[in-house]
Amino acid sequence: MKTNYIPKTRIKIYLQKFFNKLFSPIDSPSSQLSIISSLHDDVSPSPHLLDLSITAINELKNIDLIDIASREKIEQKWVSVYPGEHYKLLGALMKTMQPKVVIEIGTFLGQASLVLKKYTPSNAVVHTFDIVKWDEFRDTCFMQSDFNDGKLVQHLDDLTTDSGFIKHKHLLMNADFIFVDALKDGIQEKIILNKLEEIQLKQNCIVMFDDIRMWTMIKIWKDIKRPKMDLTSFGHWSGTGLIDWNG
Ligand SMILES: C[S@@+](CC[C@H](N)C(=O)[O-])C[C@H]1O[C@@H](n2cnc3c(N)ncnc32)[C@H](O)[C@@H]1O
Repeated sequence: MKTNYIPKTRIKIYLQKFFNKLFSPIDSPSSQLSIISSLHDDVSPSPHLLDLSITAINELKNIDLIDIASREKIEQKWVSVYPGEHYKLLGALMKTMQPKVVIEIGTFLGQASLVLKKYTPSNAVVHTFDIVKWDEFRDTCFMQSDFNDGKLVQHLDDLTTDSGFIKHKHLLMNADFIFVDALKDGIQEKIILNKLEEIQLKQNCIVMFDDIRMWTMIKIWKDIKRPKMDLTSFGHWSGTGLIDWNG
C-alpha cells in the first residue's frame, strides 16, 4: 500500500492551518502558534558549536541541491527552498563536519537522506530510520540505486522502543551526527532524548532537532541542559536546533 503521510499528523496540520487562517496577524503560506521566551537561563553553546555553526553558515552558499530537487515529484521543490527549509544547512554541516557515521530519524520522502549522502565523505555511511519503508511513499525521491553502494542504509526499526534502541545502541554510540526529524508529537522526541542520555555518545557528536519552535517541541528543547544553539534562521522555519552533546 502506498502511504502519503501519517493520517493523524495530517489532521493536526489541517486544524492548525484553519486556526491560523482565523487568528494569525500575518499572511504566510504556513504559520503556527509558538512562544518567544528569554534565553538567559539556558545553557550556552560550546566553543565547538559556535565554530561549527559559523563555518557551516559560511558554507551555505556553496551547497547546490538542484540534482536532488529534480527528484522531487511533488509540485513544490522543497529541497531548494531557501530560506525556510533545512536542506542547505544539512549539506553545509556535513561539508564542515566530515562525519563518518550519520543517523537520521525520520526518512519520509528522502530529501534529507540524499543531502546527507551527497555531502558526507565517500567512506561515510548514512543510516536513516523510519517505520515506513521508503518505497511505500508515493512521492519518494529515492531510487533503488541510491542504496546499492552501501553509503545509504534504511532501517525499519523504531528507536523509541526498547528493542529498537537496544538493537542500534552501538550504532548510535558511534554516530558523529544524529538528525531527529520524526513525529514531533511532544512524546517521541522526549523518549529519544531520554534514551540517548542512557548511553555514551561520541565526544564530538552533534544532535540536530527539527521543529524546535513548534508548540509540542518548545518545552522539550528548553529542557535540554547541554550546550545548544537555535539555528532556525539558517534551517527550517519551524525551528532547527543543534546540541553539542558532550560539549
Ligand atoms: C518530517 S518527516 C521526515 C522528513 C525528512 N527527515 C526530511 O527532512 O526530508 C517524518 C517521518 O518520520 C517518520 N516517523 C514517525 N515515527 C517514527 C519513528 N518512531 N521512528 C522513525 N521515523 C518515524 C514518519 O513516518 C515520517 O516519514
